[in-house]
Amino acid sequence: MGRYLITSALPYINGIKHLGNLAGSMLPSDVHARFRRLQGHEVLLICATDEHGTPAELAAMEAGHSVGDYCHEQHVIQKQLYEQFDLSFDYFGRSSSKENRELTQMFADRLEDNNLIEERVERQMFSSADNRFLPDRYIEGTCPECGYENARGDQCDSCGKLLEPTDLLKPRSAVSGSYDLEVRETAHLFLLQSKMVGPLEDWIDRSREWSSLAKSIALKWLKEGVQDRSITRDLVWGVPVLRHGAVRSGFENKVFYVWFDAPIEYIAATVEWSHNGGGDWQRWWKTDKGADDVCYVQFMGKDNVAFHSVNFPITMLGLDEPWKMVNKIKAFSWLNWYGEKFSTSQKRGVFMDTALELFPSDYWRWYLTANAPEASDGSFSWEEFQVAINSDLANVLGNFVNRTTSFVGARFASVIPDAGEHPTPDPWLQERVTDQMEKIIKAHETMEFKKLAAETRALWALGNEYLARTEPWSKIKVSRDEAATIIYWALNLCYLFAVVAYPIIPSSAERIFEMLGCKVATPLAEVLAEDKDWLHCGTSALQVGRKIAVGEPLFKKIEDDDKVALIERFPPKS
Ligand code: 2FM
Ligand code: ZN
Repeated sequence: MGRYLITSALPYINGIKHLGNLAGSMLPSDVHARFRRLQGHEVLLICATDEHGTPAELAAMEAGHSVGDYCHEQHVIQKQLYEQFDLSFDYFGRSSSKENRELTQMFADRLEDNNLIEERVERQMFSSADNRFLPDRYIEGTCPECGYENARGDQCDSCGKLLEPTDLLKPRSAVSGSYDLEVRETAHLFLLQSKMVGPLEDWIDRSREWSSLAKSIALKWLKEGVQDRSITRDLVWGVPVLRHGAVRSGFENKVFYVWFDAPIEYIAATVEWSHNGGGDWQRWWKTDKGADDVCYVQFMGKDNVAFHSVNFPITMLGLDEPWKMVNKIKAFSWLNWYGEKFSTSQKRGVFMDTALELFPSDYWRWYLTANAPEASDGSFSWEEFQVAINSDLANVLGNFVNRTTSFVGARFASVIPDAGEHPTPDPWLQERVTDQMEKIIKAHETMEFKKLAAETRALWALGNEYLARTEPWSKIKVSRDEAATIIYWALNLCYLFAVVAYPIIPSSAERIFEMLGCKVATPLAEVLAEDKDWLHCGTSALQVGRKIAVGEPLFKKIEDDDKVALIERFPPKS
């Protein structure tokens, strides 16, 4: 069996994430991890809150907390929400951890020892009122191009022009509103990325298993030319800049740039996991300590690809040590809200806490997988949400499981019947199930989530088709044995359907297993190991003569009235 290290892009600490964040990294990383576990592989799924940088500082200020307290509180809130969404992280860490601080400082030391870091002086805007240097996007002013008064120091949101803070007319601090800004010189550490272009290109050439979106973004960045980049900032909140364990002179009020320490947290979170009773982190990250047979898969939104395919790999290659590099990068486009960006400030869209107040997590997990924004941006709508829940979950999976279990309840006193005199499954069914299972497994392997949901639904649909073809309700009038055979294989289908549902909608899958009186084990691994066919996957779990629990319908349909109310409460445009 193999070993899979899986990471999801780290959600920023400032505020509860929206459905797009869930769809574009955390959820698919969990679906993939659950599939690999089902196959019997050893899996380590890692995520963490990304806690440094100016947005965290400002959000804390706004909330009237110290940034340390704010991050602590928000970390707990996010962690709980992810648990409620059944995201099965083996460890959910914090980029502000001691482990990440030490590792980040160690990496910088090592890069400098390897002549890949240099101190350079830059000119930046300083705000006397705030007593701090301001990053570009925290300077606002009038756009020289179109006259828009709230243009940011990096870009004008009105005409789209890319700007330098010094281009702005009447520049002011976005923190305090003060116009008292001046350009000052400040020293920063630069990672000499240009020196690493050769090794990076070789590595990208050898990386064959990235999603096409990820690969095309990486190649575009390479083509544009890899520049040296500043890896420190004039801020207080972050990883302090040391040199060989002592404060670096001139860097007393500086920290590493958030994008330098955040990806290192993938490793540091694994160290945190180790320190909290997990296993040996080096087995996952050091190729001389056992990580050489690990397959490392990263999940992220498209805006993160450059950092993961160029900058972070340069850091890792620059260490010149046997570190595990990523094997597969799966990138996602945006999920929008009726064609527009989700927005906290404009209250546009549904955020993860509200989502759970409205519907069970599986409803969202199903919709977001079936509508994963892969090749192009996707757009949430209540209309499509209703269709996904009603026609996929309720009418197809739910209906089949209910019909089958109710029939067992009504006609066989809730007892799993013997397959009678016809112990072989219907060849029509067997052929289709085999074919469909191949498609499902392929979609998992290639990490095509939309396709995965479509093929999963197609498998579930075979259940209803099977009942329509075999009509156990008519057969029972003539031959109890024949009806028993049909329903025995239908119960086996329920089991198989729960297995394939498990990575995407784990709570519902568990409910099906409970109804059948079985435990979630690693059935796929068992079937693969024993070379059984898929229809037999539940035969050892479904002992003839055992009682099953006939229960409530698995899913509740969303009625048109509900949909209208949802549209009113969370409107397309606001
Ligand atoms: O874009 C984001 O949401 C970042 N917080 C992702 C960081 S991923 C990693 F490198 F840490
Ligand atoms: Zn403009």
